[in-house]
Amino acid sequence: MAGPEARAAAPLVALEAITVRYPGAARPALDGVTLTLRAGEWVSVLGANGSGKTTLARVLAGLLVPDGGEIRLFGERIAADQASTGLRRLRRAVGMVFQNPEAQIVAATVEDDVAFGPENLGLAAREIEARTDAAIVRMGLDGHRHDEPARLSGGEKQRLAIAGVLAMEPRAVVFDEASSMLDPRARRRLMGEMRREHAAGRAIVHITHDMEEARDVPRIVVLDRGRLLYDGTPAPFFEALAAGRISPPGLLPPFWVRLVAALRAEGFPVEPERWEAEAVVEAVWRSFSNA
Ligand SMILES: Nc1ncnc2c1ncn2[C@@H]1O[C@H](COP(=O)(O)OP(=O)(O)OP(=O)(O)O)[C@@H](O)[C@H]1O
Ligand SMILES: [Mg+2]
Repeated sequence: MAGPEARAAAPLVALEAITVRYPGAARPALDGVTLTLRAGEWVSVLGANGSGKTTLARVLAGLLVPDGGEIRLFGERIAADQASTGLRRLRRAVGMVFQNPEAQIVAATVEDDVAFGPENLGLAAREIEARTDAAIVRMGLDGHRHDEPARLSGGEKQRLAIAGVLAMEPRAVVFDEASSMLDPRARRRLMGEMRREHAAGRAIVHITHDMEEARDVPRIVVLDRGRLLYDGTPAPFFEALAAGRISPPGLLPPFWVRLVAALRAEGFPVEPERWEAEAVVEAVWRSFSNA
């Protein structure tokens, strides 16, 4: 996924020392998280259950006002009250696709559902129609315009949710474990849609607890119990996992990382050139032939 993100891009949303406390919770869901999302980049967010991924997503998308810290949109500070215009601008700039597509359906037909967002932006009728149409076609739902959303398959429902978000023309889209309820085929298709939106210039925040999905992305952010554990390219993180320097509880390393760790423990000096299955197999092969 090398490409647009390789160029230095302007900050879209900058979070500074963000803290979120849910009422009655023993510890903060986010604890001093500082993070910048740049225009057009791809970030995969990893973390165990309860590490704060969804909370982070909701802060990024302007759906949750943090208890502490600052948010900047295009470099400009956003006031922290629900009614602020800054928060409304943040919601327009960053769309969010949730885990459960059912939760996002608001209208009785596919077309009306996609049109709902642009209608709320107060756009001209022609513009609403154009955006709705483009988003439906883009998500391959052309044949379902007049269908009831409830009758769509899981994958189609999720594409409907994405079409609704795209019709708002956000600069970034957060996918919060959006593929986790889909079968493998629909999941691959969803990843394809995400890549295509990224190639079209949109920033993508891809939240997953499956590290396998994040092995060849340009940037990963890892949360551990509400704190930022890692922010950078995946390779050093996988190396640290294989070397046992870090072991975030609840986050299962990909099998090839565990394989390298196990073989090293047995005395085989496995040094993969890249942290992905094929390169690991090659490195295992090398270390065995030298043994
Ligand atoms: N509405 C809420 N009220 C109280 N506590 C909450 C609420 N939502 C989340 N939490 C708590 O905040 C922490 C972070 O939750 P969050 O949903 O952000 O984690 P997550 O990484 O998205 O988890 P998962 O992988 O299960 O989706 C958890 O300890 C969770 O129990
Ligand atoms: Mg979550």
